[in-house]
Amino acid sequence: MVDLTAPATEEEIAVLRRLGLEPTAARTAVLRQGIVTVAAWKGGVGKTELAKELAWLLNAVMVDLDWDAGGASRKWGYNHETRLNAPLLDAFENNRIPKPLQGGEWRADLVPSHPDLEKNQPSPDQVSAALEKWRSSWERSVLADTHPGGTDVGYGAMSASHVIVVPTPLGINELEALEAMVKELRGYPLLIVPNQNLYKVPSDKMFDRLGRIAEQYSVPLGPPITFCRWLPERTRRMAVAASEPVPARFQEYAEQVTLVARTVVELIAKQMGEEG
Ligand SMILES: Nc1ncnc2c1ncn2[C@@H]1O[C@H](COP(=O)(O)OP(=O)(O)O)[C@@H](O)[C@H]1O
Ligand SMILES: [Mg+2]
Repeated sequence: MVDLTAPATEEEIAVLRRLGLEPTAARTAVLRQGIVTVAAWKGGVGKTELAKELAWLLNAVMVDLDWDAGGASRKWGYNHETRLNAPLLDAFENNRIPKPLQGGEWRADLVPSHPDLEKNQPSPDQVSAALEKWRSSWERSVLADTHPGGTDVGYGAMSASHVIVVPTPLGINELEALEAMVKELRGYPLLIVPNQNLYKVPSDKMFDRLGRIAEQYSVPLGPPITFCRWLPERTRRMAVAASEPVPARFQEYAEQVTLVARTVVELIAKQMGEEG
């Protein structure tokens, strides 16, 4: 069992300070046992970019549950074609605890995905039980990135999660998809994060519509992430927030994802406080 009451380690204190948070027992517990999923009914909304930043910022193990090419594993530098094993499939099939690949100082540790996961999806219950078991064994928080839409794997990850981060661009279609999602997932701990990856300068109308969705379904709105022109062309594998110093053109983005990470920790810490 993970000792949630043991004092914060140097590393945990550094992680929390980076988020602008003083170490408390509840926040430290989040770093040891929090489960976060990044999900959305639409693709291309910014899940993977945000997932890799949040995973690094929280010092979480990133579990890539998206089987499509162009996901977090590839971005991390992992290439399944050159590997003999498939850690995620093996873990689900054989009920094993995967050993995360070490990200080093600039990337989160990773359990990489595999294209065959789509056809070999475990049930939602299996996925949530697995994630809970893995994080207890790792004694770390877990951050799962997912395939767009409601998939078995995605539902499993969401059920195990303390917070589900839902990035959303501010356009009609995207907000339509967001509304369908929050309607379906009533009772799930969602956190909506406006991400302007498609709309450089969204109109007030779109912000108003987003505000109404958040209010109607009582879903908290997280800090927004603005359009970052350099992001789609960035080839570096490290998390943007991990660069030292953060280049001027990425500073705003790095600050914004850090604020999202801080919001996530605070939401989970509050939940854990209420449970305990
Ligand atoms: N805030 C942002 N500003 C600019 N581009 C972004 C932003 N967030 C994401 N992107 C870009 O949008 C595209 C889709 O993002 P991605 O994270 O892969 O979405 P998803 O995982 O939801 O499919 C990528 O090219 C990504 O670099
Ligand atoms: Mg993705």
